[in-house]
Amino acid sequence: MLPRRATMASTLAAALALAAMWRPRGLLVACSAADLAHVPASRARSVRGGYLMTEQGQQLRSKHNPRPKTISRHRDATTGSPGAALPGREMAASATADAGAGLRSEFLQVLLSRRRDLQVPLLVEQGSPVKDPLYQKPLGPKEAVVMESCPRKEVKNFNEMLVEENFYLITELGEQGRVPVLLLKLNDPVPKRKPIIVFLHSSYKCKEWLRPLLEAYASRGYICVAIDSRYHGERASNETTYIDALKSAWRNGDTMPFIFDTVLYLSPVLKGFRWAMDNNKWQARVNSIKPLFEEARIDLGKSEIDTEVVTKVWEKIAPGLDSQFDAPYSLPLIAPRPLLLLNGAEDPRCPIAGLEEPISRAAKAYEESGSAEKFMFIAEPGIGHQTTVNMVKEASDWFDRFL
Ligand SMILES: *[C@@H]1O[C@H](CO)[C@@H](O)[C@H](O)[C@H]1NC(C)=O
Repeated sequence: MLPRRATMASTLAAALALAAMWRPRGLLVACSAADLAHVPASRARSVRGGYLMTEQGQQLRSKHNPRPKTISRHRDATTGSPGAALPGREMAASATADAGAGLRSEFLQVLLSRRRDLQVPLLVEQGSPVKDPLYQKPLGPKEAVVMESCPRKEVKNFNEMLVEENFYLITELGEQGRVPVLLLKLNDPVPKRKPIIVFLHSSYKCKEWLRPLLEAYASRGYICVAIDSRYHGERASNETTYIDALKSAWRNGDTMPFIFDTVLYLSPVLKGFRWAMDNNKWQARVNSIKPLFEEARIDLGKSEIDTEVVTKVWEKIAPGLDSQFDAPYSLPLIAPRPLLLLNGAEDPRCPIAGLEEPISRAAKAYEESGSAEKFMFIAEPGIGHQTTVNMVKEASDWFDRFL
């Protein structure tokens, strides 16, 4: 089915995208940097096993669930009725797995509801390097600095050793069904299995923006993949494509450009959307795609954007985002797969107070599945909605540890 030109790595990437669609296994770096900053590593507080710390070092959530008793100690009590006598850890894991399967299939139904007629068999098409990538907002002068801080390995003749592949994954009919992929890896004369990392750019940017990160990880032996989100990069025609798509989703309910369309390929949702509504903390998020909410405000005949406008917009363009698919329910389902969360402690778009519930639920799920060490949340003091040198380093260590 795949054209012969498609390389092994392309096939792997395709498989990864598909696998992630059904059950994300890999780790994902989502670079949600609106602004970038340099922060000395010493100022950060990192906490294992789901503890959430504030700048003052005060613990918001410090309940430590004792580790469940070991399975072997319970084995004798097994009665033969499956499930009935499962020891705590197994039962918790199986309950989580069931809940996970339910939520995943429900989510998939929502995602497919607007694209059921577009299904095609997965295909790979050859592409070529993008000379003039499309950014839908101007880049600041220091945009790339933080990513360039990502640790590299000294590689002789790095530029000659670097292999770049450009291709498209055809995932559905239509222009947006063509996923542009950029892959970087080292030309290694000894073929061996290598971990793949898939990177996702933030709003208004494109896969080429991530190049410094891809190169750094490639130097350390990873296969690095970046894709253009829907309505971004090669999937956009001009600087208003993303905003136009959001407005069209509001007007016509035809697609789900905000988060959901991207999640279909890759990532779990992490943001306390419901919390933001209940606590009147939605403004910063709304401001990041303001023209959409302005349009909705006018359509709803309101004089200002209020909680009702915001709720209606989410309902239309991302149904379930502030209810059944919100972070408190989606996040714990990632257990026991390794998960590192990095957030600015002062992030107005993803306020950490809104993460308290999702984080404590996730921490509990990791503890109950006996994998507390695979979950870490770091809230970096004094930092807003931005990526820092320290975050890049933490993510980099995490990948080395688990991949
Ligand atoms: C952007 O492209 C769309 C569709 O191709 C078009 O309708 C729109 O007018 C363009 N906008 C600008 C600002 O060029």
